[in-house]
Amino acid sequence: MRDFLRRLPKAELHLHIEGTLEPELMFSLAERNGISLPFASVEEVREAFDFNDLQSFLDLYYQGMSVLCTAKDFHDLAMDYFRRANAEGVVHVEMHFDPQAHLARGVELPVVMEGLSLARRRAQRELGMSTALIMAFLRDRPAEEAMEVMESAAPYWEMLDAVGLDSAEQGNPPAKFVEVFERARELGIPRVAHAGEEGPPAYIREALDLLDVCRIDHGVRCLEDPALVARLRDEGVVLTVCPLSNVRLRVIERMADHPLPQLLDAGLRLTLNSDDPAYFGGGMLANFEACAEAFGWSREVFVQLAGTAIESAFMSDDRRLALH
Ligand code: ADE
Ligand code: ZN
Repeated sequence: MRDFLRRLPKAELHLHIEGTLEPELMFSLAERNGISLPFASVEEVREAFDFNDLQSFLDLYYQGMSVLCTAKDFHDLAMDYFRRANAEGVVHVEMHFDPQAHLARGVELPVVMEGLSLARRRAQRELGMSTALIMAFLRDRPAEEAMEVMESAAPYWEMLDAVGLDSAEQGNPPAKFVEVFERARELGIPRVAHAGEEGPPAYIREALDLLDVCRIDHGVRCLEDPALVARLRDEGVVLTVCPLSNVRLRVIERMADHPLPQLLDAGLRLTLNSDDPAYFGGGMLANFEACAEAFGWSREVFVQLAGTAIESAFMSDDRRLALH
């Protein structure tokens, strides 16, 4: 099965590029940039990866990314990830990035965009991988700040495949971001949003109704609302599910309890993703393998899930045809 899953051409639709920062690279970038970390060693960092919930992870995630300062840092981060993903049979990566988390540290958007753009071109040229870019707004920051980022990104609008919404979900409903998502819609930029990870099913409804998103990131809590499940099925809304992330952030207690089989039985369009692979114990292949082990799925199920990801990816029709 492992070999089959590795060879299966996989598209990853839910990944935070800052969440691919492995402790080894964290240390080497800290040294390169003269930044001191509150950890003595790589092992100590890994020991800190014991999360109680989303917020306890986010605290470490924002701290970790303080080593990302220059365009070269962002390039190296992304290129390292693309190489690892490529070795796992990933053919297409859609990466969220968090401009506000960098701006807050004095790292301006052009620096981030230069590094990521260079890495994307190299991934295409050297690895034959396609990539997409999702500019995410931090939902625990003011909506006005998100709008400022949206406007300041004007030179890059045409490079954005979508805008997204991430960070601490509870108490930060999609409704808070109606205006900025409306602005993206006006500009013809597609929209996705994290919803129903820790937040209630009502946030999934809001993301659909108020933000007009084409995919829901996570969405696992939809099962608490049968009418919502029926709607997601009828409208063919894709959920980008991240099983290992859900277990590590204690959204779900154990892989065996993960609702993926129920979501599949309900006829929903699902994809498997890694979210923040450096922090959650593995990339795409580890997520696929964890499902194989927990649910005993046949090859056909994995082919279906990988097919849904390719169908709903932000990629050209030519590329889609070549991968199908
Ligand atoms: N930012 C990075 N990973 C995230 C997650 N799993 N949920 C919300 N925001 C995030
Ligand atoms: Zn995420």
